[in-house]
Amino acid sequence: MLSRAGLASRKQARALIRQGRVSVDGEVCRAADRRIEGEAVTLDGDPVESPLARVDFVMHKPVGVACSHDEREAPLVFDLLDEGLRRRSLKIAGRLDRETSGLLILTTDGDFIHRLTHPSRKVAKRYRVEYRGSLPEDAVERCRDGILLVGDDAPTRPAELELEGEGRATLVLREGRTHQVRRMFRAMGAMVTALHRDRVASLDLPPDLAPGALRPLAEDERALLLSESSL
Ligand code: URA
Repeated sequence: MLSRAGLASRKQARALIRQGRVSVDGEVCRAADRRIEGEAVTLDGDPVESPLARVDFVMHKPVGVACSHDEREAPLVFDLLDEGLRRRSLKIAGRLDRETSGLLILTTDGDFIHRLTHPSRKVAKRYRVEYRGSLPEDAVERCRDGILLVGDDAPTRPAELELEGEGRATLVLREGRTHQVRRMFRAMGAMVTALHRDRVASLDLPPDLAPGALRPLAEDERALLLSESSL
């Protein structure tokens, strides 16, 4: 169970059990061949979820942490999770750049990630943009019609740009290419100085979620995201 939950190899799991770090229904269990059929298992006091149980979180990603598992890019968003959660193989549904803040969804469910990120699902992601320089007069139309970005073989899909004056704008994308907002602004002659994602489909970044904080995604929020990402 420990190894299937992704917490350790089978060999490491046996060692953890021998060290007395695993309890079953509150009692330390030192027998690696103990069969588990619904009992509550903990490792170092943290509940071990059934390998099949999925977990989804909404996080307020702060600026300065990387959406990566590569320690060389530390600090990582995964460093913001407590130890029990760090052991679950959470993955990111739609990464943000290190310098971008805002709504991030973390989940153990690969299908959910596909639903939220595959361009065919056209899930809307809204970005608040601060930029330097000036945008061309036809910026709204250019975003709507698509921009061919350097190195890409197809123009961007229709995106909705709203200008808010004084170097501020909102851009809604329905795909997620690397550094897409920054590259679209650069292609139009402006430079993004701050970027924040505040909405995915109709899920707003919860206003009470401070930068760096996360909370489980509620079932109705998950259901809404699934319904809005159906084909
Ligand atoms: N577009 C970007 O340029 N960066 C992000 O983090 C997200 C969208």
